[in-house]
Amino acid sequence: MDKILVRGGNPLKGTVQVRGAKNAALPLMAAAILGEEPVVLHNVPCLHDIFSMDKILAHMGMAIEFTGRAMTLDPRNFGTPEAPYELVRKMRASFFVLGSLIARFGRAKVSLPGGCAIGTRPVDIHLKGLEALGVKICIEDGYVIADGKLKGANIALDFPSVGATENLMMAASKAEGITRISNVAREPEIEDLARLLNAMGAQISGAGTDLITIVGVDSLGGAEHVVLPDRIEAGTFLVAAVATRGDVTVQNAIADDLPVFLDKLEEAGATIEVHGTKIRAAAPNGIKAVDFSTRPHPGFATDLQAQMMTLLCCAEGVSRIKETVFENRFMQAAELVRMGADIDLDGNTAIVRGVKSLSGAPVMASDLRASAALAIAGLMADHGETAISRVYHIDRGYERIEERLASLGGDIERVRE
Ligand code: EPZ
Repeated sequence: MDKILVRGGNPLKGTVQVRGAKNAALPLMAAAILGEEPVVLHNVPCLHDIFSMDKILAHMGMAIEFTGRAMTLDPRNFGTPEAPYELVRKMRASFFVLGSLIARFGRAKVSLPGGCAIGTRPVDIHLKGLEALGVKICIEDGYVIADGKLKGANIALDFPSVGATENLMMAASKAEGITRISNVAREPEIEDLARLLNAMGAQISGAGTDLITIVGVDSLGGAEHVVLPDRIEAGTFLVAAVATRGDVTVQNAIADDLPVFLDKLEEAGATIEVHGTKIRAAAPNGIKAVDFSTRPHPGFATDLQAQMMTLLCCAEGVSRIKETVFENRFMQAAELVRMGADIDLDGNTAIVRGVKSLSGAPVMASDLRASAALAIAGLMADHGETAISRVYHIDRGYERIEERLASLGGDIERVRE
């Protein structure tokens, strides 16, 4: 088991390249199931979650070639519409293959993904939407068994679920007739999926708004597509820069994908400069407390909440953070308190009282974004070493994060236990 060791005190300086978005690449890979010809994706990040999705699709018969950051997915020998538990449990986003499998085969058997550290993460919105499209759904031995000919329908989501929006877009792209889905997720990754599906021959409009209209087509072809940059990775590096009082430019980032987050960083006292696809962050005069609530896009991204909480641990004043998207996404708080932070939790609200400094300590990663937050905390600490265990969490969503933070001057390394 690897560990990441961090010693604080070095302000991060320089530039870092943002990779392709994990949360775009995963549904884009699932969309390849729908086509009759190969799909080629560029700018695919080399992450454990991508390898897990690769394994699940290959298990079902997709021929995949992944070299460098280019991935070719050839569905021409795609066989069984079944995604087994032992593969799905490793990466819950594999549930996003359900809509495509039903659209291709008229049936599917996909393991329920189960919960994870940040919440129970049910899939009721996915299943209700598929039933509205005429699919018969039953749950047997932990599997979703789906069967039926997809017919266009008007669907209103109870919550703008990202995964449900993506599953339903893929299913409806080959349904008979028109589908209108309201109260949909508006994340940039949804727009990226619509771009690929339309390039394959789908007729989807409204992605990025709260109403998506899909005119079903009989078949979809192949396409070539560049995965959009990872806004969460960009935000993570920007927080690290500000938290260490450094000055970092992230390249290949899209500021419009981080509207509220960048405003909050500036409100906290950071200087943010945007030049095309470069975003520069520095914090010459320290950080002051801010309040924020996570919200579906274009609100403050829940995937940046743990990183922002970490920054605010050493802000001047008291910050109030509300996590409205997931029911258990403050697990980093207990680890931050071990490092000297002053945080009280009350349900989905965290009160963070700024302290002068953090000190290094052995800590445990609990989920992907919390582990990135702990690396930032270690870089902020003004004495002591932080040893982060269970780093497989961090490898799910960040490519060699310790090397890239070290390239910015961070005293951080990975050691094999
Ligand atoms: C996607 O997860 C992302 N994952 C998550 O990123 C991200 O945090 C989340 O969207 C919110 O932005 C991928 O894209 C692979 P949701 P998803 O469905 O689709 C509830 C990361 O760190 N809900 O929008 O699973 C759910 O419990 C990961 O990269 C239902 O109740 O998120 C949650 O409270 C973590 N029923 C809320 O909605 C459903 O059927 C948002 O979930 C579906 C969701």
